[in-house]
Amino acid sequence: MHSLNRQEIIDWLKNENSRELDDLFFAADATRRKHVGDEVHLRGLVEISSYCRSACTYCGLHAGNKKAIRYRMNSEQILKCAIQAERLGYGSVVLQSGEDPQFDMKSMEQLIRSIKRETTCAITLSLGERSPEEWARWRDAGADRYLLRFETSDPFLFQAIHPDALSNIPSRVDQLPVLRQLGYQVGSGVMIGFPGQTFETLADDLLLFQALDLDMIGVGPFLIHPETAFGTGWVPREIDPTNQVESSVDMACKVIALARLLRPDAHIPSTTALATLGGVDGRIRGLKSGANVIMPNLTPTDLRGDYAIYPGKNVSFETAQVCRMELFDMLKSIGRVPGKGPGHRKRSQAPTNPSFTPKT
Ligand code: 5AD
Repeated sequence: MHSLNRQEIIDWLKNENSRELDDLFFAADATRRKHVGDEVHLRGLVEISSYCRSACTYCGLHAGNKKAIRYRMNSEQILKCAIQAERLGYGSVVLQSGEDPQFDMKSMEQLIRSIKRETTCAITLSLGERSPEEWARWRDAGADRYLLRFETSDPFLFQAIHPDALSNIPSRVDQLPVLRQLGYQVGSGVMIGFPGQTFETLADDLLLFQALDLDMIGVGPFLIHPETAFGTGWVPREIDPTNQVESSVDMACKVIALARLLRPDAHIPSTTALATLGGVDGRIRGLKSGANVIMPNLTPTDLRGDYAIYPGKNVSFETAQVCRMELFDMLKSIGRVPGKGPGHRKRSQAPTNPSFTPKT
């Protein structure tokens, strides 16, 4: 594992020398190959509900957005998508939604059980902050992984961009070990370049990825949505503009590369946000900077446009079959191969944070 200290990370984040950055991307790519190989794991993403009870200042699906179109898939629709994921050869299905209480403990449990009965897919949940009881029940029902981005390690910023986060419940950073103890493979991450984010906070985020010993790390550029607080020009704090992290493909690739060096055996996606900002090239650059996962969209095409967490998301309405062909061609063109099987994290080193590891 590379040991990068806080100042070195900050220096890399600020570095704009393309020759030096090529060295960073090269080192990250070599680390990726050594620890997780040339396989790119494909996780079929199903956006099961656009309802949300939360008030996040960055997300187009926040509860107060009256213009957002809300939909909720039913169990049969979701099961169909999971079966399609398996047919397409994707080893995992990711069920993602806003924080939608209608998907309660029981209905999710039944859904997870039916997907496990009908397919061999691993199941990743990305349903926001839920109760430990719900997480435990869903894990018992067969869910394998949970994604919960902490978005920023700075407590002030976290509170500012999550105005309804309650101070009497544990922060997301403190909830991640709960998920780990329940036996989930745990993923987290941050957005890159939202107003108020400094190089120092982003460096701290990266160090936290390492300290938490995350199994999955998802990062992508922040994309401003007009119907949000950020969209109205609100800022959580005034900072020196030279210290503001920019939202760009370059910056996202730097963060992916640093995450790879800090957590060599983690699963790191080249995210949809990166592809939204940088097109196919953006996605490829992510894969060449340390990423080893892609999450192809399996949400039914007539619903996709309504899962608008940021503008331009899901602009491709091609069928899952067409997306898959394009994806396989793209992987071939860069010398990578589609992953087989569930694609669980394989540790290449002992846990770095024993207190964050279940005692099983
Ligand atoms: N721009 C980029 N990423 C966003 N997300 C939410 N809103 C935005 C946005 N405007 C990310 C958050 C969330 C994940 C599902 O999508 O990090 O955790």
